[in-house]
Amino acid sequence: MTQVTAYRAAILHSLADPARVGLDASHAYYEDGVLVVADGHICDIGPADQVLARQPTNLEVIRFENKLITAGFIDTHIHFPQTEMIASYGEQLLDWLNNYTFPEERKFADPAHARRVASFFLDELLRNGTTTAMVFGTVHKASVDAFFSESEKRNTRMIAGKVMMDRHAPDYLLDTPESAYADSKALIERWHHKGRQLYAVTPRFAPTSTADQLAVAGRLLQEYPDVYLQTHLSENKQEIAWVKELFPERKGYLDVYDHFGLLGERSVFAHAVHLEQEECERMGETDSVISFCPTSNLFLGSGLFDLPRMEAHQVRVGLGTDVGGGTSFSMLQTIAEAYKIQQLQQHKLHPLKALYLATLGGAKALSLDDRIGNLTVGKEADFLVLDLHATPLIQARMKNAHNLFEQLFVLMMLGDDRVIAETYIYGDCCYRRH
Ligand code: GUN
Ligand code: ZN
Repeated sequence: MTQVTAYRAAILHSLADPARVGLDASHAYYEDGVLVVADGHICDIGPADQVLARQPTNLEVIRFENKLITAGFIDTHIHFPQTEMIASYGEQLLDWLNNYTFPEERKFADPAHARRVASFFLDELLRNGTTTAMVFGTVHKASVDAFFSESEKRNTRMIAGKVMMDRHAPDYLLDTPESAYADSKALIERWHHKGRQLYAVTPRFAPTSTADQLAVAGRLLQEYPDVYLQTHLSENKQEIAWVKELFPERKGYLDVYDHFGLLGERSVFAHAVHLEQEECERMGETDSVISFCPTSNLFLGSGLFDLPRMEAHQVRVGLGTDVGGGTSFSMLQTIAEAYKIQQLQQHKLHPLKALYLATLGGAKALSLDDRIGNLTVGKEADFLVLDLHATPLIQARMKNAHNLFEQLFVLMMLGDDRVIAETYIYGDCCYRRH
């Protein structure tokens, strides 16, 4: 028999982009709400009195005090192999890669190491309320097998791929165009649409792939039109100058990817901090996606991402932690830094816009908004129970928060993993804070 469970608490979820429909129409909020879940999907939601009146009287209802239910967070850019090198001191992008990142990624030649880190990483995501992420592996095929195996065990909806990298990295981390093609193809065949798993073709960034290898990435996208592409773009000024030296025949950084057919609605470019006008236009024209990675952009000293500028070009944007260039797994902390980055540019990031970016906007960025991103009926039941009294300071500040807008903003500015009381995956509680 189908197990039906209802959860009663305040409920908030995103319905649309506030930039398109205004703040009021962008969300639904039920101060005393009920969410009903069956077979891993949302089957009812609304004010408690209305939902309970139309559900069977013997419905099992789990009630929460001082909690807020919302959709699971979506992290559109993160590196699982960099989990144990987060917070590495002192460098900007290119030296940080050479001094810290590449030696760390070498360890993933050992499948047992990959399995252990993948397991820890996924548990850490769930502890932080992240239920879907777009994830880099290493160059080693087995790193991605390990990741998907652990994700499948937890039934999490994840997108991941094997790094393609055939130059400008230590020999021990290089593949070739041929091996990258064969390994990526085998992983696509094994994992894409296996349960909730999805594959992303993953050239690391233009400097570490030859033209031949970028052509292979384009070929894979043609052969498998519904796989994703993930890479990095215009993160750091030295990096951009290097790409221009390596590809003098191209108009600029984005044009390198464009030339090899890598732009499109399932292509997610991390950072895009320093785009030129023409590049913004091309991102919009091709419906390509940007992952905005605030803690990483600050930690690596990369620059300030201009969110309104990208939106003016109709570019979809999601939020990313970019661990280990980023300094937190928490999407709440990521939002706090996104807010400050917009402040430095005289822009405001409204908490309802931030909620959208971390949930439904992330789902739209990953073309998964028909399945996840909010709590409308029929969606997969990935949701969170947030604790409005998570810490003494948050509890004290909440007494002084007089409406939803203020409560949400306090959670975003002061919150982190401690705010996540419970995380549900496909209707099952898979994390509960002690
Ligand atoms: N550019 C190429 N590789 C990386 C990486 O691992 N992290 C970040 N932040 N940028 C990159
Ligand atoms: Zn990255």
